[in-house]
Amino acid sequence: MYNTTVCVGVSFGDEGKGKVIDYLAQAYDVVCRVQGGCNAGHSLVVNGKKTILRLIPSGILWTHTVCIMCHGMVIDPNVFHEEVTNLEAAGINLEDRLILSDRAHVILPCHIEADIAKNEKLGTTKKGIGPCYEAKINRSGYRVCDLVNSSCHNSFSSEVIATLSRFANNSTSRIINNYIKMNKGVIFEGAQGTLLDVDCGTYPYVTSSNAVAGGACTGAGVGPTAITSTIGITKAYVTRVGAGPFPTEANGDAATHIQTIGKEFGSVTGRPRQVGWLDLPLMRYAVDVNDLSMLAITKLDVLTGLDTIKVATHHILDNIAHEYPLIDRLYNVSLLWKEFPGWTEDITNVKSFEDLPRNAKNYISFIATELDIPICLISVGPERDQTIDLMAEASSMYFTNKFGRS
Ligand code: IMP
Repeated sequence: MYNTTVCVGVSFGDEGKGKVIDYLAQAYDVVCRVQGGCNAGHSLVVNGKKTILRLIPSGILWTHTVCIMCHGMVIDPNVFHEEVTNLEAAGINLEDRLILSDRAHVILPCHIEADIAKNEKLGTTKKGIGPCYEAKINRSGYRVCDLVNSSCHNSFSSEVIATLSRFANNSTSRIINNYIKMNKGVIFEGAQGTLLDVDCGTYPYVTSSNAVAGGACTGAGVGPTAITSTIGITKAYVTRVGAGPFPTEANGDAATHIQTIGKEFGSVTGRPRQVGWLDLPLMRYAVDVNDLSMLAITKLDVLTGLDTIKVATHHILDNIAHEYPLIDRLYNVSLLWKEFPGWTEDITNVKSFEDLPRNAKNYISFIATELDIPICLISVGPERDQTIDLMAEASSMYFTNKFGRS
């Protein structure tokens, strides 16, 4: 029905992409990470064990999946070596199922130094992401193939280079396109989020790659018509780390509740995340620029216990209420709000939409209706099985709406 799916963050990253992609991967054959580097931290919890992946695709914990790190990524070889070592020590077989594009660019120690020295005002993750992409665009970067095929850089140990060589491959786009031709299920895993995209986001408070769905085409080397659907992933609220505008930022008791219950601290940097409410104008924008087919909502359980849940429906600028945002004027907007009564019931074991408390259903239904998009998954806890799976209904709605067929 849908064999190639791009999964992207709807807002400022940290939407729970790792959990959602791990869950979806049970029904797919291949998971390709398309952009970004170890600025991402994708957390997966399976049988009580937490794994944080920074580079390796979020499908790796299943045994049936092939995981491909595409040329759009930037690779810190030391982090890659550490991640491989940790996964293998945990008993995960990577042989013949983890593939690294040898055209991915390499983060050098000087990139990390430059990031630390230069980018304080942007609040970057200081992992060398920006300077590495800068070198790539400037055509002065080093790629995995440059390190593997000639010892042209002596910044890394022979052990680390050996790990790169073990997984490096020079035809990842061909491999992916062959899987697509064979009708295999392929997930394209985005990192960060729509509003951190270097072109579509809140520039300059963005990352240095294309985090929107289009980034899957360039990052993996597939054509746009090869992609059947796009899943946007959002938390039931919003968080942001680093600098930049955040119109719906919350304060007071509700913010403390969300930050504490949601454990909203960066998985890469440990920095506390600012928290806030869903922002429909920004979400409408994300639906547009990614052509989202469906929405996955994570961390709904975190809202349990709040008296009131707020959603911004419009941005007000120059006394006009806007349904769509003016991305460069987010610092100047005021907001129109809709408020929902909360719920107190424990929802962490709920398995179907019908079994959610009425107020939670009203909240979710409002979002789906306002955005005119089916909800394919609701996550009610970090574990893989704490998931309300609405994929069958959502796919049928999407394909019926779009193509007049289910
Ligand atoms: P960089 O990607 O390290 O250059 O950081 C640029 C901006 O993107 C900073 O505001 C970071 O906090 C933010 N950022 C980068 N990666 C992530 C992520 O995976 N989640 C959330 N924010 C991120």
